[in-house]
Amino acid sequence: MALAIEAEGIFKTFRSGWWKKREKEALKGVDLRIEEREIFGILGPNGAGKTTLLSILCTLLLPDRGKVQILGMDGLHDEHEIRKRVNIVSGNANFLWSLTVKENLHYYGMLYGLTGRERETKVDTLINLFNLREYQNIPFDELSTGIKQRLSLAKSLINDPEVLFLDEPTVGLDPDVSIRIREEILSIHRQKGITILLTTHNMKEAENLCGRIAFLKEGRIVTIGTSEALKRMVRIGDRLKVEFKGRIQEDELLRADGVINFTISNSLCEIVVDDGERRMGSLIALLSQSGVEIKKVTLGQTDLEDVFIEFAKGEENPDPDRR
Ligand SMILES: Nc1ncnc2c1ncn2[C@@H]1O[C@H](COP(=O)(O)OP(=O)(O)OP(=O)(O)O)[C@@H](O)[C@H]1O
Ligand SMILES: [Mg+2]
Repeated sequence: MALAIEAEGIFKTFRSGWWKKREKEALKGVDLRIEEREIFGILGPNGAGKTTLLSILCTLLLPDRGKVQILGMDGLHDEHEIRKRVNIVSGNANFLWSLTVKENLHYYGMLYGLTGRERETKVDTLINLFNLREYQNIPFDELSTGIKQRLSLAKSLINDPEVLFLDEPTVGLDPDVSIRIREEILSIHRQKGITILLTTHNMKEAENLCGRIAFLKEGRIVTIGTSEALKRMVRIGDRLKVEFKGRIQEDELLRADGVINFTISNSLCEIVVDDGERRMGSLIALLSQSGVEIKKVTLGQTDLEDVFIEFAKGEENPDPDRR
């Protein structure tokens, strides 16, 4: 599989202040390799460097050092070519405030050199795709935040990008609007098969959308993996509570696939597993086969939130295969 985004040794320090020079090392040697058609998430606390990294990868900002390749092109020199083939959505949608939804889309179409019928058709398709028909004649200024964000996504497809950069695409939106925006992101990905790189604070968003996630902390990537792998890494796992009668074969349980740990007290067995939904069936079967009578099973799932907290406070470079 070809790489859509490749970054090597990216450093960026911001310098500000006039007589008292302030320096902030925002990125301290970031390496990243993202394959074509991936949805890749960058997760990290405030100030970790997510927006800075995204801005460098989409050619809006130059790094102090390092290499960037986007779709095989040099991110530091071929920015004009790259910008024709990528697009970006930032959390704070910002458009020409007095223009309507439709006029704004035409305006961006014009910037990308679309003319006449071609632009008309493109704008029309995007209005349909993002259900913006009823808002098409409303000025940007009068739209709700959710609709502004939908317009922003619509705009981002005006040039049929091969790579889409999304900086906190659902920040500040109601949960139901966020869900809808995520569905739209997934649907864009399904229909167009493009590469998507997104930053987020929202664990559910990362978990639902992203195949792989990088955790960025203080300008460095601490770890990269699928959400399952990240959960395994911090050994949190999901909690399967089994109320039972009989005697559990402890060594068998410990050897079962996905089991990280367990405790047994009286008639309650709490099993920590990597993926509760996936393992529940086989674990119940295993216990039943060894003659244990199952009374009740409940599943408490870990979400990435716990992983986030672990990584934000925790050790650097945990070993992904530590299991
Ligand atoms: N233009 C700038 N001038 C000076 N410092 C900056 C500039 N942009 C970012 N920084 C600093 O660089 C660091 C990384 O900022 P960045 O916006 O990339 O973080 P982030 O992970 O996107 O944070 P958030 O989650 O709050 O969006 C922060 O300490 C920030 O204050
Ligand atoms: Mg940011």
